Amino acid sequence: MSRTLVICKPDAVERGLVGEILGRFERRGLRLVAGELREIDEALASRHYAEHVGRPYYGDLVKFITRSPSLVVVLEGPAETWRVVRQMMGATDPTQAPPGTIRGDLGLETQENLVHGSDSSESAVREIALFFPDLAGSAGT
Ligand code: TYD
Ligand code: MG
Repeated sequence: MSRTLVICKPDAVERGLVGEILGRFERRGLRLVAGELREIDEALASRHYAEHVGRPYYGDLVKFITRSPSLVVVLEGPAETWRVVRQMMGATDPTQAPPGTIRGDLGLETQENLVHGSDSSESAVREIALFFPDLAGSAGT
């Protein structure tokens, strides 16, 4: 078993698509182990998106992710659950994401692309600890 972090971003909450998105993961068989509706502040955004600091899109990315609440959840499933989630999300640019994926079915803009998923086992461990310190140490591989 392993765990990964998923964020239904502000656009998903604003558009009323949280149920649609989480429903896909649940129907696939992934289990919800933690969840919180919260406004991500700049400090947390800069830690979460540390690898993007300095990129040309970084300022807009922080403005977007902090503008209204996100639903942050931890999902559990088989080994490398992060990979299953990433496949279900589709490409970062929704116009390149195939139909059947969350971004491919529900989005068109790279910034407002609805959902975040950890991109490796190491990211899953780091991001779960960042958002849910009480769960730190509970497997992300
Ligand atoms: P990234 O981690 O590369 O994508 P993903 O969310 O698929 O893991 O980038 C983080 C977010 O930054 C991405 O979801 C949207 C935003 N972003 C842009 O706005 N423009 C860009 O060119 C890139 C690469 C990302
Ligand atoms: Mg990423």
